[in-house]
Amino acid sequence: MDDLSTIRSAALGAIEQAADLAALDAARVAALGKKGSVTGLMKTLGGLAPEQRKEFGARVNQLKGEIEGEIEARKSALGASTLAAKLASEKVDVSLPARPEGHGTLHPIGQVMDELAAIFGEMGFTWADGPDIEDDWHNFTALNIPPDHPARQMQDTFYLPQRADGTPMVLRTHTSPVQARTMLDKNVQKMLADGGALRIIVPGRTFRIDNDATHTPMFHQVEGLVIDRTTHMGHLKGCLYDFCRAFFEVDELPFRFRPSYFPFTEPSAEVDIGCSWKDGEVRIGAGDSWLEILGSGMVHPNVIASCGLDPAIYQGFAFGMGIDRIAMLKYGIPDLRSFFESDLRWLRHYGFSALEWPSLTQGLGR
Ligand code: DAH
Repeated sequence: MDDLSTIRSAALGAIEQAADLAALDAARVAALGKKGSVTGLMKTLGGLAPEQRKEFGARVNQLKGEIEGEIEARKSALGASTLAAKLASEKVDVSLPARPEGHGTLHPIGQVMDELAAIFGEMGFTWADGPDIEDDWHNFTALNIPPDHPARQMQDTFYLPQRADGTPMVLRTHTSPVQARTMLDKNVQKMLADGGALRIIVPGRTFRIDNDATHTPMFHQVEGLVIDRTTHMGHLKGCLYDFCRAFFEVDELPFRFRPSYFPFTEPSAEVDIGCSWKDGEVRIGAGDSWLEILGSGMVHPNVIASCGLDPAIYQGFAFGMGIDRIAMLKYGIPDLRSFFESDLRWLRHYGFSALEWPSLTQGLGR
C-alpha cells in the first residue's frame, strides 16, 4: 500500500516536472516500461492470494490508467507550449522592407535578336530556323556554290565527318542555308503558288575558323529573304534603309549601296552606313566615314531553281548581317570575344532588363 502511493507520487511528480517530450518519455519508461515501477507491481500480483490479488490488481490497474492519462495531458501541454514558443520566436515582421533580389540581364545578342524581330516583324517578316550542323548541299551547292567553286574559300569552314549515307556535313558558315530549306518547304511552295509572298528573317548561330578581336569561331548572323513575283531591288533598298534607321535610331542616317559579289545573289550589293571616329570610338549616323554592315542582293535564279521554284515566275531579295557586329556598333562594345566569356560583371554592364521588351512604339534599345 505504501509502495503504491510512493510509486504513484514519484511517477506523477516526474511527469509534472518533465520539461520536454524526451523527459516525459523517460518518466513513462520509469513507470510503465518493461522494468518500470508500475510494471514491477504487476509482477508481484502472481504471488498474492486470490482475494488480495483481485483487490490490489484493481488498484494497480487504476494507477496505470491514471499515469497514462497524466502522460497524455502533459504531452499535449508540452506540444502546445513548444508550438507557442516556436510561433513567438519565428514571428514575421510584415512591415520590414523586402530584401533586394538579384536580377539577371539579357545578353546583348538576345536583345538585338528581339530588336530585329520587332523591326522586321512590323514589315511582315516571320522568324525561321535551321540546324547548326548543316549538310554541304544546303550550305553551299543550293546557294550556287558548287563543289570546287573558288567561292567556297571565302568561308573558313569547319568540315565534319560524313553521314553514314555519305552526305558531307559542315557547321553552317552562314544563315543562308535556311533560305534553301524554306523555299524547299512544300507548304511554302503552295503558299507561293497561291499568290502569297515569303518574308523571313533567320537569326542564328554560325561558325568559321577565325579568332581575333572582331572574329570568333562561333558568331551570329541574321538572314533575310523575300520571295514573290514582283519584289525588286528598290524594295530591297527601301527595306534595308528603313531597317537601319529604325535599328540605329537615327532618322537622317547616311546610307549607301555598294556593288559587290555573292554567289547566291545577282546583282549583289553591300550596305554601308555613315559614321565618324573619335578617340578610337565609332559614332553612327554622322561624319565622313563609311562602315560596312551587311551583304545583300536579288536572289540568283540558280538558287531559286535549286530550291524547286521557277525563276521565270519567282524573284526576290536576300540579305545577311552579323548580329554581333551590329550589337557592338549600336551599344559601343569593343571586343567581340567578351560576348562569349560569361563574365557577370560584363553582363551587368552591357546586359538588358528582361522586362523591357523592345518594340517600335515603346523604344528599342536603352
Ligand atoms: N551569307 C553571306 C555571308 O555569310 C552574307 C550574305 C550576303 C547573305 C548576301 C545574303 C546575301 O543573303 O544576299 O558572308
